[in-house]
Order: sequence, then structure tokens, then C-alpha cells
Amino acid sequence: KSFLYKLWKGDVSSKMLNPRLQKAMKDYLSTNKHGVRFKGKRNSKLTGDQLFCELKERVNVKTIDGKEAPFSTLGWEKHVPQIPLVKLYTHGFGSCAVVMSAGAILNSSLGDEIDSHDAVLRFNSAPTRGYEKDVGNKTTMRIINSQILTNPNHHFVDSSLYKDVILVAWDPAPYSANLNVWYKKPDYNLFTPYVQHRRKNPTQPFYILHPKFIWQLWDIIQENTKEKIQPNPPSSGFIGILIMMSMCNEVHVYEYIPSVRQTDLCHYHELYYDAACTLGAYHPLLYEKLLVQRMNKGLQDDLYRKGKVILPGFKAIKC
Ligand code: C5P
Repeated sequence: KSFLYKLWKGDVSSKMLNPRLQKAMKDYLSTNKHGVRFKGKRNSKLTGDQLFCELKERVNVKTIDGKEAPFSTLGWEKHVPQIPLVKLYTHGFGSCAVVMSAGAILNSSLGDEIDSHDAVLRFNSAPTRGYEKDVGNKTTMRIINSQILTNPNHHFVDSSLYKDVILVAWDPAPYSANLNVWYKKPDYNLFTPYVQHRRKNPTQPFYILHPKFIWQLWDIIQENTKEKIQPNPPSSGFIGILIMMSMCNEVHVYEYIPSVRQTDLCHYHELYYDAACTLGAYHPLLYEKLLVQRMNKGLQDDLYRKGKVILPGFKAIKC
């Protein structure tokens, strides 16, 4: 059976990846750039429902609130939004779409379905203009990595992609989540552009994720995986899914687990081919996808044809 078929069944391991990706994974394990020291146990064999409840109990969307050093000393309490991210919408969203940037979404004609949701999450510089038929045109929230804020090619200050949406930025911090160490040496310095943007656009909700939240997700992925996963933060996609599970009644995830349209085309908006975008090299992406597959409440046929997974929101189910 093909790799894709096995992924749909949740029955794959990194050994089935091409040698180049396996080598990249190994190198990340030995480099351990972020100083990960996992103290938990691996391979807990939770069912999909148990895993959902574990996530519901432990996942706590946390953003920088300016109350901890060094941010407190730097006066960040007045820079960050008054209202916490998960409290922005008092009753949360009903149904939400998480639109992955994968090339496989091209020719999907999912645009109308995506736009029919109450809220739509997109990532980084993924555009809608010119791709409406396949990805829709509504954007409620955008998760951006620190490179978007710092790399001039992305035109963070002027681009309409980053206007009139909730912005959530993140940067790989040390596993220790020591904010002083991180502030002095972020992967990309997002702090300066963040404060500038907040000053210029005080009414736009714009948050920085707390490293504790990101590494908490990593711990849960590792605890529920037999193999040693890459000691690097989860992908923006996984982070986004968990944020939406915390804010929505139901979450429809598009082209995270690939459909029959699976392709090595990395992004729908860019002519660049690399299997690592879908299966992971830096991020523990394959393992994230296996957990999401385990929790899928949608139809198998929607997975094959639309690349769609349906997850309940945390508030929707009693554990
Ligand atoms: O590449 P980028 O991080 O901007 O894409 C957003 C998210 O979409 C990724 O973090 C990943 O979770 C998901 N993705 C994917 N397959 C691809 C490209 C992106 O699953 N080919």
C-alpha cells in the first residue's frame, strides 16, 4: 500500500520517508539546537478520544502578557493587547477553518466551503488573491513566524496580508522557555518590529505566543509518539489547530493530512518543490499529523477528496 494510504490509516513511521528526510531528522536530533531535555515518557497509546481529552486538559494558549521579566521591566504591559487572545470573542467561534498552505490545495475548489466557516485561519504569507476558488478569501486570523516580521521580502509593515486580521506571531525559543535568554537571542528578532507595529496599529489584535505554550505542545506530541521526534517546535499548522480548538466549537482542517492531490509542491502560491514541507524535516510534522489523524471525527471520504479533518473544539466535548 502507498505511503499516502498508510498516512490516512495512521500507520506510518519515519522509516518510510525518503533517505534525505531521514538524514535531516537525524541531524536535527543530534544538533538539538533548542536544548530540549524531555523528561516524560514516550509512546502512551491513547485512543483518539483520550488524546483529545489530554489536549483539552493540558493545552493552555498563552501569549506574552508583559507581566514576566524581561518584558515587565521593559514596559510591555502597555504594548500588548488588553484582552487575551482566547477571550477576544466572548462566546468563541462556531465553526472554523484552518487552511494549510500546501500545494495540494490547488484545484480543490474548496474556496466556498472554506469561506462558509465563521472564522478562517491562514499562515504566514499565504495569499488568497488569485487563489479564491481553491482557498477562499476570508481571513480572520493569521499565524506568522518571526521571519515574516524580520525579512524585508515579506513587507510586513505594508502588505495587506497582515491588515484587518488577528495576528499571532511566534519564534523558536529555548526549551527551558527562559524569557531572558530568548529576548537576548531570538531566532529572528521579532520583538522590535512587534512593538513598532503595536504603536502604529494599537487597535489591531496582535500577540506573541509564549514559548511555554509551544513547548507544551511539543511535549504532548513526544509523549504520544513511539519514535524520538525532532527536538524543534511544532509547525505553525499544528500550533494553529490547537489555538482554533481552544476558540471554536468545531475545527475543519484543510490539506494538513494530504488528499489524493498530494504533491511535493511546497506551497500553493510558490513554485518550489520539497517533500519536507508536507512530511517535515525541521518540524516534527509527520508526528503532528499522526496525532491529528488519530483525533479525526470527519468522514474518510472527506479526508481523501478534500484533505479535510474535523476536530471538535475543547468546549464542545465533556471529558
Ligand atoms: O510553510 P508554512 O509554515 O507557512 O505553512 C503553514 C503550515 O501548513 C505548516 O506549518 C504546516 O503545518 C502546513 N503545511 C503542510 N504541508 C505543506 C505546506 C504546509 O502540512 N506542503
